[in-house]
Amino acid sequence: MDLTPLWSARANAMKASEIRELLKLTENPEVISFAGGLPNPQSFPVEEVHEATQRVFRDHAQRAFQYSTTEGVSELRESVADYLHASQAMDVHPDDVLITNGSQQGLDLLGRTLLDAGDTVVTSNPTYLGALQALSYYGAKYAGVDSDGDGLLPDALDDTLKGLAARGVRPKFLYAVPTFQNPSGTCIPEARRRRILDIAHEHDLLIVEDDPYGRLRFDGDPVPTLHSLDKGGDRVLYLGTFSKILVPGFRLAWTAGPSELVRKMVVSKQSIDLCTNAFTQFIAADMLQNGIIEKHLPEIIRLYKGKRDVMLGAMDEHFPKEGVHWTRSRGGMFTWAEMPDGVNTVEMLEETVRRNVAYVPGKPFFPDPEQGFNTMRLNFTHASDDNIKVGIERLAGVMVETMERQKALA
Ligand SMILES: Cc1ncc(COP(=O)(O)O)c(C=O)c1O
Repeated sequence: MDLTPLWSARANAMKASEIRELLKLTENPEVISFAGGLPNPQSFPVEEVHEATQRVFRDHAQRAFQYSTTEGVSELRESVADYLHASQAMDVHPDDVLITNGSQQGLDLLGRTLLDAGDTVVTSNPTYLGALQALSYYGAKYAGVDSDGDGLLPDALDDTLKGLAARGVRPKFLYAVPTFQNPSGTCIPEARRRRILDIAHEHDLLIVEDDPYGRLRFDGDPVPTLHSLDKGGDRVLYLGTFSKILVPGFRLAWTAGPSELVRKMVVSKQSIDLCTNAFTQFIAADMLQNGIIEKHLPEIIRLYKGKRDVMLGAMDEHFPKEGVHWTRSRGGMFTWAEMPDGVNTVEMLEETVRRNVAYVPGKPFFPDPEQGFNTMRLNFTHASDDNIKVGIERLAGVMVETMERQKALA
């Protein structure tokens, strides 16, 4: 049967990414991959999850095997509100917490709830690819704002918003990953956060703060979330997830913020999946209530900090110094490298994969298709320390050759 005439306009608009095809090659076990965004399985608290599961069987089996409300199991919503308060001084009412099937679903719900085709979303350049994919499905157009080593540039944000206003465009929201951003690893300092909030206030702009990595800080003092700095309390929708502080396989996350918006998102979610898996919600609630996640967090941080140091050490040793810059991430899972203008990291990936090492080219993280050709994202959490050293040395070899070829052509 020829199915193509049956595709919806939306399905027709979806494209398989050429980079994803290339990265399929990295499934070969010979390839050292810095491409994925996977937590390290060594970070999973397997025994603690086992014990919590037994308590859920003992105490909550009836409800854990039942449908839950679309909003989520009340114990988990309360525990999330307590956790946000204790760990990040965030004031969130449990009624304003929606449990989602990963933050990725939160992003999809946001698109469903707020976007009509052609609506404008403001993002940084670069930004999280999964958000661009989720929101593009609903026809989002992007206004990209440049960033530097400290993340989104407030003056550029102000200029962009003024430019949009002059054209009569009201953007639906600013999407930001302020802390240890995927892909760049940057963290916006507090003063800059305050300025971004002031600008959002001046332009009456809603902010979506996506924060999967905020607790994975290796060095320096924590920076308050935009949500906690928002004194009005209703301008920031906050997305958090258990994927990086517990396990991604539970597919558990939360969205917290303005009541009216959370309510609308609940209605959007009803038709998708009725509710999030109640069983894993009870396990996560148990682990939050008993302080197990908080107690385990230093283990994850120790593991990832060590790997970050191994990667940065290998980059310092092997990467070409002239014309190449990279972020010294103080947390999260990624570092980000920029090569000289003219280098195309999508093309370079083919040669790199032939040498059994892989990264993600930075281009798809830019909403503007003309930007980011010379950039790449490197994940440091998944490979073994030895593989990080070998992989970075191999990658550096390809970078040097590519830059030499580039020079010879110039
Ligand atoms: C910035 C950002 N947002 C959201 C997600 C999705 O996370 P989840 O596993 O909760 O769906 C990720 C995953 O890597 C991410 O990096």
